Amino acid sequence: MQHHEIREQFALFRASKNQVYLDSGASSQKPDSVIDAMSDFSKYHYANVHRGIHKLSQESTRAFEKSRQHIADFLGAKSAEEIIFVKGLTEGINLIAATFGKMVVKKGQSIIISEMEHHSNMVPWMMLAQEVGAKIKTIPVTKQGELDMHTYRHLLTEDVALVSVMHISNVLGTINPIEEISKLAKEKNIPVVIDGAQAAHHLPVDVQNIDCDFYVITGHKMYGPTGIGAIWGKRQHLEKMPPYHGGGEMVEEVHLQDFTVKAPPAKFEAGTPNIIGAVGLDYAISFIEKIGWERLQEIEQNVSCYCLEQLQAIQEVRILGQTDHKIGIFAFEIDGLHPADVATILDQEGVAVRVGYHCAQPLHEQLGSMGSVRVSLGVYNNHMDIDRLIEGIKKAQELLR
Ligand code: ALA
Repeated sequence: MQHHEIREQFALFRASKNQVYLDSGASSQKPDSVIDAMSDFSKYHYANVHRGIHKLSQESTRAFEKSRQHIADFLGAKSAEEIIFVKGLTEGINLIAATFGKMVVKKGQSIIISEMEHHSNMVPWMMLAQEVGAKIKTIPVTKQGELDMHTYRHLLTEDVALVSVMHISNVLGTINPIEEISKLAKEKNIPVVIDGAQAAHHLPVDVQNIDCDFYVITGHKMYGPTGIGAIWGKRQHLEKMPPYHGGGEMVEEVHLQDFTVKAPPAKFEAGTPNIIGAVGLDYAISFIEKIGWERLQEIEQNVSCYCLEQLQAIQEVRILGQTDHKIGIFAFEIDGLHPADVATILDQEGVAVRVGYHCAQPLHEQLGSMGSVRVSLGVYNNHMDIDRLIEGIKKAQELLR
């Protein structure tokens, strides 16, 4: 598929030649196929799922479960029953922490996370640690922007009950060695949770290969809608875990004093789920699959290398992290300029970027940064977008001096 054919699938870029979108790490744009599928489904096939014997409910249930199967295949799960629909990454991690986490983390034990985690893979574990009287241990980040694996090995002591790390950093773009992280934890029978929010749309994920216990994705960063994401969890864990939310459809029987729960995944899906969102996510995965991993990575690497070269050519720009093993995410500071001022001028020039800590304040603190401008690329970005970014940065330098 030609690169321009991919870009043309997005109404925003067809409508406005002027808009440059470099904030896909926060949320990606959605292709027509995703929006049309949700619209068509809402208009002609919609009803509640798992609840009706009527035709529309059956159709709706089929579409919802087709999405679950698609996610399972996409992540290499053994069965669709290992996929739980959630609102997004944040709800996914909170669910795991409040159910599995509470089962396995005991008073006096430790949870390992890393310094580069997004707040959503940090705060739920801190809340759990506070509740049960456990400790948080953090894998340091090197100046290169990589996890310090030497220290990680030393952190894996007897008291560690769980490890949770992100697959790809939302600030540095670093692809973390999650297979090795899992392997080292597994040697000590420690369960591993992976935050895949920035990863599942940039590289193929195979949860069997990674050999983790949970892998969480979020739809809105992977060309799908907001309000939908998924947890993949090992079946043996899902069966033992208590439910997260109580309500309709997660129960087998309810009596005045007690209830029994259904088998997973229903056990974790109380209430009416985001049915339309699930349909959108199904089509978002198809959008990625139609491009194909090889082509997608070729496009992204090409634009990402160009972006890096152009940013590095501006002497005053300091990019956070220097690793080669990364995707197209660049957080940077510009000597003497406040990141918010730079982002404001970029926005006036039609270039959308994110500014601040990007929900990773501890990482910025470790790197001695008071906040940064972040460019995060999607498969639709091209060299012209990068040229516009660079022009915008130069303009900001002129105006703010
Ligand atoms: N996690 C999102 C980001 O990195 C919101 O911007």
